[in-house]
Amino acid sequence: MPSVATLRPQEFDQAFVDRVIAERGDRPGALLGVLERVQEHEPAHYLPTTVLEYIAAKTATPLSQVYSVATFYALFSLEPQGRNTVCICRGTACHTRGSRDLLETATVRLGLQSDGDGETESLSITTPDGAATLRTVACFGQCALAPVVEVNHTIFGHMNERSLLKELDALDKGGRLS
Ligand code: FES
Repeated sequence: MPSVATLRPQEFDQAFVDRVIAERGDRPGALLGVLERVQEHEPAHYLPTTVLEYIAAKTATPLSQVYSVATFYALFSLEPQGRNTVCICRGTACHTRGSRDLLETATVRLGLQSDGDGETESLSITTPDGAATLRTVACFGQCALAPVVEVNHTIFGHMNERSLLKELDALDKGGRLS
């Protein structure tokens, strides 16, 4: 594991990361909360490798453990994201309840290019102006609420196309998609 000194703090807001780690301390689930706050704070709403390495070194946590948390939860992204995120679950329970149509609806509404069949296992596309990122996940762990969609970190269960369009229209009307 790299030492804290060998990392490049100039690539992220080190003072903020240090503060969050100090606040969370050794509480159970602290790592999850640290990653969440740091991703929120990062202008492109993601967790760059440098930050993950820094958090691992600073908290004396194995880097593999930090990565497994960052990749397990659908909330986190290792790629830069747009100012808004729309995440559609494409797991089996959601698929059988119409998530492919939800994906198509969101793709068209956000002005993105469809991948053709909606079967892409893992999708992450950002609008050219950086207004929104559309992603898919394999399961939110909320299958009883299928189909499940997340918009800007709020989970919506039993989603249908009309409700999804309503949420996206609200973002647009609030000036968040421009
Ligand atoms: S399959 Fe969608 S929440 Fe589990």
